[in-house]
Amino acid sequence: MTKPVNLSTKIFLDSGDPQETKRALDTLGFLDGQTTNPTLVSKNPHITELKENGALTEETIWNEYRNVASEIHAVIPEGSISVEVYADDQTDYESMLEKGRELSRWFDGIFVKLPVTSVGLRVAETLVKEGVNINMTLCFSQEQAAAVHAATRGARRGQVYVSPFIGRLDDTGVRGLDLVENIVRMYGEWGSHVLVLGASIRNLEHLFGCFERKVDIVTVPIAMIEAWKAHGIENPLGEQDPSVLASIPFVDLKEKDFTAYDINHPLTDAGIGKFSSDWKNLFSK
Ligand code: G3P
Repeated sequence: MTKPVNLSTKIFLDSGDPQETKRALDTLGFLDGQTTNPTLVSKNPHITELKENGALTEETIWNEYRNVASEIHAVIPEGSISVEVYADDQTDYESMLEKGRELSRWFDGIFVKLPVTSVGLRVAETLVKEGVNINMTLCFSQEQAAAVHAATRGARRGQVYVSPFIGRLDDTGVRGLDLVENIVRMYGEWGSHVLVLGASIRNLEHLFGCFERKVDIVTVPIAMIEAWKAHGIENPLGEQDPSVLASIPFVDLKEKDFTAYDINHPLTDAGIGKFSSDWKNLFSK
């Protein structure tokens, strides 16, 4: 099967398991990339087994993560693969930068995920100048997306992704797809180099909603890829957003220095906390 011709959005798998990469590829007949994060890596069956045997340390876990990323890379050698730095509220610029540089050397074309925080944005500013591909994650507001654009000015188009988390916004009673729509509109008006990557996709409405909004990329769990296939892959457009959630209004933001935006969001902080605890749980006794 080939990709539907009317579908401009790239399809990534959201998973830390290379077996799921194979399943997604078999299911769709194509796969444009994969995103991982600490929580997803902690669910990888091999890593879970190592954890249960007490075989992981803070040092060895990174080798295991690298092996996972390399296995994914072997399945989709042309695919865009994102791997995430460790971050908590104590992580400073130097240590995040050092880890970002290390991850960027795992293999050519890899994307380094950084949180949309003031430290993450400063690291992004430095890394894009060094030619590193960046995926700015845990984005929950239009201001954060504006800051990503501003911090990475000068990057080539396709070098930087921003990942708004749709499902986690829905969880709080507001329509996550509206944020995606607002970012796509703002970036369109600005002629931005940043690609929008719809993340935290929990159902087909999210997936098809991203297609309708001409999102550049979506990252989709294996269960959603299989549900999409069951629904009918050849005609993905046509589902409607049920609209039971509160809308997020578009804000007419101006381009300015990235440090001038209000990038604080409680869901970003909560997301960092969850990634951090899932990661530490792998090697804590
Ligand atoms: O791509 C981000 C994703 O892994 C988060 O999904 O369902 O935990 O909000 P979720």
